[in-house]
Amino acid sequence: MSCCPLRWISSCVSGCLLSVLGLSGRIKMSDPCSFASFSTCLTKHLNLLLHVYFNRHVIRGKVQLTVEALEDRFSVLTLDTRDLNITSVSVNQQPTRFTLGSKHSFKGTPLDITLPFDLSRGQQVIVEVAYETSQSASALQWLTPEQTAGKKQAYLFSQCQAHHCRSMVPCQDTPSIKHTYYAQVSVPKDLVAVMSAVRDGQEVDPQDSSRIIYRFRQPVAMPSYLIAIVVGALESREIGPRSRVWSEKEFVDKAAIEFSETETMLKTAEDLAGPYVWGQYDILVLPPSFPYGGMENPCLTFATPTVLAGDKSLSGVIAHEISHSWTGNLVTNRTWEHFWLNEGHTVYLERMIGRCMEGEQFRQFKAMGGWKDLQDSVNTFGADNPLTNLVPSLQDVDPDDAFSSVPYEKGFALLYHLEELLGGPEVFMGFVKSYIQRFAYSSVTTDDWKNYLFTYFKDKVDILNKVDWNAWMFTPGMPPVKPKYDATLADACIALSQRWIKAKDQDLNGFGESDVKTLSSHQLIEFLSLLLQEEPLPLTHVKKMQEVYNLNASTNSEIRFRWLRLCVRSKWEEAVPLALKMATEQGRMKFTRPLFREVFTFEKYREEAVRVFVAHRAAMHPVTSGLVGKDLKVDASSTARH
Ligand code: BES
Ligand code: ZN
Repeated sequence: MSCCPLRWISSCVSGCLLSVLGLSGRIKMSDPCSFASFSTCLTKHLNLLLHVYFNRHVIRGKVQLTVEALEDRFSVLTLDTRDLNITSVSVNQQPTRFTLGSKHSFKGTPLDITLPFDLSRGQQVIVEVAYETSQSASALQWLTPEQTAGKKQAYLFSQCQAHHCRSMVPCQDTPSIKHTYYAQVSVPKDLVAVMSAVRDGQEVDPQDSSRIIYRFRQPVAMPSYLIAIVVGALESREIGPRSRVWSEKEFVDKAAIEFSETETMLKTAEDLAGPYVWGQYDILVLPPSFPYGGMENPCLTFATPTVLAGDKSLSGVIAHEISHSWTGNLVTNRTWEHFWLNEGHTVYLERMIGRCMEGEQFRQFKAMGGWKDLQDSVNTFGADNPLTNLVPSLQDVDPDDAFSSVPYEKGFALLYHLEELLGGPEVFMGFVKSYIQRFAYSSVTTDDWKNYLFTYFKDKVDILNKVDWNAWMFTPGMPPVKPKYDATLADACIALSQRWIKAKDQDLNGFGESDVKTLSSHQLIEFLSLLLQEEPLPLTHVKKMQEVYNLNASTNSEIRFRWLRLCVRSKWEEAVPLALKMATEQGRMKFTRPLFREVFTFEKYREEAVRVFVAHRAAMHPVTSGLVGKDLKVDASSTARH
């Protein structure tokens, strides 16, 4: 009995129907990025047993999925996998047949499991899959001791968002489904394992006394993309009543100082959004190749070490990840097409925390900077690119390729626009809080959000009906309305950038160290961003800027990144090695990709950019090297550009 004809028929019928109706992407009942169907059955719980093998760079795992049927005569379960070696499958302990379908470029390989008996609606079974990950698992980066701060121990970290969990655990890898999990992880005894869950004790591995088993429980239902694991020579320090900071011991004291405001931020967020339901809120500082600024793994935010500059301007990352505890982790986008619900609301909440802690002018300043980031993304993608829609269709689109500031900043701009229309920050935050309460523990679409907006503001429906929803959500390019932000804090940045843009060579002696003395690091970042939006400055100007502001000495990654781009754009050859150094010494994609692209665009150093990338590729995170490879048009396997 095979499921394939059935699946083929159902997907064809719905596909044809949708394309006939021209509604593709609007009313779909499945996730374009997953083979798992969420209308026939749901995973309720995962029980994980993981063995981490550093010598072979694999995890050997056993996962027991508690699966509930949503229909009568349910008999075939499809799980997502990617590059997994499946050893065996059983259902309620009965050995069971399984078939792997053909491999899709980014969705991976569907694993079809034919149950030995039919289920009726509401019935649950335990499906156990024994498997091993591949050395190239896209969720995992294995670091050699030399790639760590301590240089003595190997290190492993995962990054599952958006669709990489399937390369670590066979599962229904779609954010439309939420489950709890329990995990036991066996690692060499010199190392420590942590996960996106509450720690639940440890013991010597009864099967191998050179190993320790760490246990974790996550009693709050969450989507698969929030499963996370790190194994390394980790230490921790307490930084608050419900918070510790984790990292290699070389960074842990610095990190404890850097994140000392965590509890204040958590309390501020709770005042705004309601109780924090995840118990613990820890922060883990990763090695430099971590591809994101932060990742909102429940109970354990992951953070790039590039935030450790002893500079408060970088605390926005933590405000952002804390905010995801409500928007994203409690209320989750149903598919990646609705990613703006996660990120737009999180940026809105992050800036409300900024407003409470630093004032309204600060929020306005950040919002203005965000508009500029949106403009940059729209320019990079092209103003007619459908991926600049707030709600894009991701049919046949790899979510990693679609990633940009658009869901963050177009999302924020829409929420801010509504805030202005509907009565200001307090009124609109009331809606956001109520939306969180209404949809907590579930996954939502843009329609769910919009319907609730109309319900909540039932007395202001006439205002809501004037919003050009189609332009905001389903039209590429910049939004239909540009909000007017207060420019008090931005004025100094605008004035200084204008001075540089207008300066002739003979004016350069008018610039001095004192120009930037009174600017905060936020403002310095904004000043550089403004210059990056203009035509490249003449080389004489950037050389003078180095002479008077000495930006080469900055350790603030946000400043350094923009400064080096500016220099390379002005074709300052001495900046090329510095830019490539920053692109490879840390791997945050927000920095690494534009730095490589910038050097690549400098014709004389194009080959150098490719050479440095090819030389470093093996040590880079798999997702980062894949995307930089595409950016630089380097073939995935070749050693030369084609
Ligand atoms: N959840 C994202 C990171 C992410 C998004 C990983 C999509 C994989 C796929 C995280 O919350 C985030 O937005 N990080 C930002 C932080 C910034 C907005 C303060 C980042 O990494 O730059
Ligand atoms: Zn985010």
